[in-house]
Amino acid sequence: KRPIIIDTDPGIDDAVAIAIALYSEELDVKLITTVAGNVGVDKVTNNALKLLKYFKKEVPVAMGAAAPLIRTPQDASNVHGVSGMEGFDFEEPTNDLLLEENAVNAMYKVIKDSATPITLVPIGPLTNIALLLKIYPEVKNNIQDIVLMGGSASRGNMGVMSEFNIHVDPEAAKIVFDSGLPIVMAGLDVGWKALVLPEDSAQLENMNDVGKMIHSLFKRYRGGSMKTGLKMYDSCAIAYLLKPEMFETIDTHVDIELNGSMTAGTTIVDLKGYLGKPNNAKVCLDIDQQLFREWLLDSLRKCN
Ligand code: BDR
Ligand code: CA
Repeated sequence: KRPIIIDTDPGIDDAVAIAIALYSEELDVKLITTVAGNVGVDKVTNNALKLLKYFKKEVPVAMGAAAPLIRTPQDASNVHGVSGMEGFDFEEPTNDLLLEENAVNAMYKVIKDSATPITLVPIGPLTNIALLLKIYPEVKNNIQDIVLMGGSASRGNMGVMSEFNIHVDPEAAKIVFDSGLPIVMAGLDVGWKALVLPEDSAQLENMNDVGKMIHSLFKRYRGGSMKTGLKMYDSCAIAYLLKPEMFETIDTHVDIELNGSMTAGTTIVDLKGYLGKPNNAKVCLDIDQQLFREWLLDSLRKCN
């Protein structure tokens, strides 16, 4: 099994990604770390614990950064609801799985002690990952790669050009993309195409307990705007781990715009090689939509 750490801000699409990863036979989720993003870090941490309780899975959780490195927090409660996971009545979790140490120290330990190099799967702002790489640079020796959801080679969803996870903490993203580690960027170019259609969601309701819960969350996701399909951004990172052949990718150089008055937080994806800099990322440019839908439903069917 491939050992991974999921760094997340659940988040309705995060919840789907976490479910698939936890029930996958190919992935071994060693740790879940949380970061302020879709809503504040206390809420997303509680959401991660709620999900684990619902799934009856015992994975340690460590709480991470309450705010971006430099900037003022911005959330996405308009999309995910005030709790961050509005739409299903979860039982209140206990704190049994919550580690006392913070996300950075917990990641450090898991990475240091792992016999096999770890894959980091960040599906929220990159604050924790940047801190980890700055505080414990030696972890790079035991990180296999970073497969993240974030960024865009085209337009944005938070700024005109910027995607939410990068827009919220561009300085952290810059540290991660400059780290020298192998990076796979699954951004909006695939996230916008990774759709669950109304007929797919209808299937979830009667599939199993996990499907029922997700169906219920979907009714509230983006204020219930299901008609044209719901975007499963964060599942793209998990999909890349499990079925990379669904994606079309390009190896290129990605930089992060920090200063633009209208473009801060944009991933500068150098598709034509203008910058003359070495490749630092594999960027997902396209996804087979039909295969993705089938894969998503199949994966959720296995969440039993
Ligand atoms: C990203 O932003 C968040 O709202 C989602 O959970 C996803 O990680 C998409 O831009
Ligand atoms: Ca997320």
